[in-house]
Amino acid sequence: MSVHIEAGKGEIAETVLLPGDPLRAKWIAETFLKDAVCYNKVRGMLGYTGTYNGKRVSVQGTGMGIPSTLIYCYELINDYGVQNLIRVGSAGSFQEEVKLRDIVLAMSASTNSSLNKARFLGADFAPTAGFDLFMKAALFAKENNISIKAGNILSSDDFYEEDPKGFQKWADYGVLCVEMEAAGLYSIAAKYNVDALAILTISDSLVTGERTTAKERENTFKEMIEIALGTLS
Ligand code: ADE
Repeated sequence: MSVHIEAGKGEIAETVLLPGDPLRAKWIAETFLKDAVCYNKVRGMLGYTGTYNGKRVSVQGTGMGIPSTLIYCYELINDYGVQNLIRVGSAGSFQEEVKLRDIVLAMSASTNSSLNKARFLGADFAPTAGFDLFMKAALFAKENNISIKAGNILSSDDFYEEDPKGFQKWADYGVLCVEMEAAGLYSIAAKYNVDALAILTISDSLVTGERTTAKERENTFKEMIEIALGTLS
């Protein structure tokens, strides 16, 4: 057991899907995995291990934001030997052509978090997706006719941004969308030399103000999970 995860050694698979919402972890385990066993209930941050097409895989809630995500990623990597970390979450669009329900593979994650500024003494580390996972996910999507977009995203510390046009500068530089975790995930994966990828579905648009309904989110979520599970080899 680690500080925040009560699984025994060997109870967590080498590849872990990481939704922010622990109840989403339960839904993924119940919907997609065979013989799923719950290995964590500490702080209600549910985690499950099961199989998908005969391959062992886990799914672990992370909570919202970089600090919470880093706690779970650190323990998964250092206490449980996890090698592949795949965030599956939602994001808000910064671009007119990035529509509600689109799926985005985050090639890189810009951030307004001070985490890496502090680590790199004011210089800018560029948090980047792992090449193997990125390639596998992109290929799986192509082979299965699932349309994706890929590019730079923003991991923000601030969900309720004060300035409604604050996103425009990021948009001007081609950033596709905003979420709150990927830059932390990519940074810790780089530090410990493991593979990481964030796959996102667009749940709202900062350009148009539109939002998906819960039902619509569920449907697109399915394709995103299929891409994540399609990387298992
Ligand atoms: N996740 C989904 N939509 C978001 C938004 N608008 N800002 C930050 N994270 C998000």
